[in-house]
Parts: sequence; structure tokens; C-alpha cells
Amino acid sequence: MTMKKTNHTMRRIRSWMRSPRYHALKAKDKMIGIGDEFFNQKREKYTPGDYRWLALTEAMYGGLQIGGVNTGRNRGGDRMSPCFHNYGRSYSEFLMPLLADVDADFTVVEVGILNGSGLAIWCDLFPKARVIGMDLNLSNFEENRAGLEALGAFQQNTPELYTIDQLDRSVAEKAFRDALGEDKVDVFIDDGHHSLESIEITFEGIKPYLAEGFVGFIEDNFDTYDHLAHRHRDCWWTTRGELTVVKNK
Ligand SMILES: C[S@@+](CC[C@H](N)C(=O)[O-])C[C@H]1O[C@@H](n2cnc3c(N)ncnc32)[C@H](O)[C@@H]1O
Repeated sequence: MTMKKTNHTMRRIRSWMRSPRYHALKAKDKMIGIGDEFFNQKREKYTPGDYRWLALTEAMYGGLQIGGVNTGRNRGGDRMSPCFHNYGRSYSEFLMPLLADVDADFTVVEVGILNGSGLAIWCDLFPKARVIGMDLNLSNFEENRAGLEALGAFQQNTPELYTIDQLDRSVAEKAFRDALGEDKVDVFIDDGHHSLESIEITFEGIKPYLAEGFVGFIEDNFDTYDHLAHRHRDCWWTTRGELTVVKNK
């Protein structure tokens, strides 16, 4: 086995030991056969914010559905699906308690928007909030925007867009300054570059803007928790496989 493969296996074992419940539920979701039956359901069957509502909304806006109805509309959107990252249960756990208090002061920031399936989910889930999308390259979203609208997206809320480079600290800080000003962030999602360098720059750039009861989701890196939790002990951290969740204490 190469060193790279060994490290990856070690990370997975460590991840299982740290969050056995998350991994057990993920394995269960895969085994019970999420397929056509699941993806053919209407999201209205579930409460907004429920993990199944999140997965069905993502699928509706072009999310990946291998094992289910594969419409050939695969355009990003692999975070909520039980067939892929299956972060839906964790998103649901931390977002549901916030939903009662969402008003025009509530701000959601997603860094790394690609084709915008995430923005479409956030605009439906937080119709009264300020939803901000940031990316190095906004053109993927702009090109897909009409397609998303045809699928029903952005009828209740529309996102604001900003360019950011998560690998350049001063550019990232300026992007947050321009986007947020005096505003505070209630929910942030980092689904961008995914390297530890970019994750650190992004978290430290957005940290001064985080609201009292904020929650942050940092996706797709097993090492985020080890890298950031001890540097930012004033926050509360947890790790669920490749997803790290941060809140204030
Ligand atoms: C995994 S995709 C995002 C998927 C999206 N959140 C969704 O809902 O489907 C990653 C995104 O990160 C962006 N990205 C890559 N490097 C970046 C950087 N240095 N700064 C900002 N965004 C970056 C890419 O342009 C891409 O749109």
C-alpha cells in the first residue's frame, strides 16, 4: 500500500472511532437501499430542514442520485444525498433548532457554490434570510441559474454573489468585509477548495463576523477538526467524518 493510501485508511479508522454514530447511520442509509423509492418522494412530505427534505431538495435542484432516479442532471450537489456524503443528518441536527428564529437579520454564507444547488436549498430553507454565495468562479452558477429557476429555485429568496479566493488571506478578508460590513453570520458553509490552508484562511476570515448563536459547516476534509479546534478553543467543535461543525461555546 502506498503512504497516501495508508494515511487515508488511518484517517477513516480514526474518523469511525471518533464519530461511530454518524458512520453507523451513514452505513445504514446506504444498506437499506436508498433508491428510486426515496427519490420519487415529494419533499413536502417532510418538515423543511429534516434530512430527507434536505436530500430531496438537493436532488430536485440537480443533486447526485446514483442508486436512484438518475436523470442525467448531475450538476454538483453531493452533500445531502444518502448515496454520497450524507451530511444531511448533521445539517438537520444543527439547523433545525435555528429555523424558528429566522428573520431578515439572519445571514447565511456559502463559500464554494459551483452550480448553485446549495444556494437553491438555502434560499428555500431560509426564505427571509440574507443568503450570500461566494466562489472563485461565479460563472458556473450564473450559467446554471436559469436552469435552477426553471426547477423552481429562488422564488422566495435570491442569493447575493461575491468573488473570493480562499487561498489568498487578504483577498478573502476583503471579500468578507465587502459582503458583510456590519452584518453578522448565523450559518456558514465552507464547500470550496477543501485544503487545510483554504479552510483556515476562510474560517479566520469569517470569524470576526460570526453571530452569537452561529453554526458553521466545513465539508470534505477529515483533518479540519485536528487542524483548527485547538487553535480556536473559544469555539465548540465536532467532527463527523469529513464534515466538521463549529459553534460558539
Ligand atoms: C465542491 S464545489 C461546491 C459545490 C456546491 N457547494 C454545491 O452546492 O453543489 C467547490 C467549489 O469551490 C470553488 N473553489 C475552488 N477553489 C476555490 C478558491 N481558491 N476560492 C474560492 N472558491 C474556490 C470552485 O469554483 C467550486 O465552485
